[in-house]
Amino acid sequence: MLGRVNHIAIAVPDLAAATATYRDTLGARVSQAQALPEHGVTVVFVELDNTKVELLEPLGEASPISAFLARNPGGGMHHVCYEVEDIIAARDRLKAAGARVLGDGEPKTGAHGKPVLFLHPKDFCGTLVELEQV
Ligand code: CO
Repeated sequence: MLGRVNHIAIAVPDLAAATATYRDTLGARVSQAQALPEHGVTVVFVELDNTKVELLEPLGEASPISAFLARNPGGGMHHVCYEVEDIIAARDRLKAAGARVLGDGEPKTGAHGKPVLFLHPKDFCGTLVELEQV
């Protein structure tokens, strides 16, 4: 069911500092910052040969990553996104297996304009999992 890793998302308290760490210390290619108000984050893409890392900074009052950063003030790995071919089939299979799909269970349009779902971290080894239909 799972395809490639689409991205790994890291929540950070200071996007400029995190950008400098990845660009200057680690020597990676890093995009310009993009504000995504509908997702409550500002994001920078670290572009790697085989996947990308997204550095996420909260944007606005009700950012979905605020609570995570309150628990992890220095930042931390927030979620892993795996590609699937058919997100509805994947959801139905996971629900039948007892996994919890977050929200109302209907795919939303993610940061890349594709349908996404999030799965409860307690059902997946303590890691928030995002599925993206590609
Ligand atoms: Co994501």
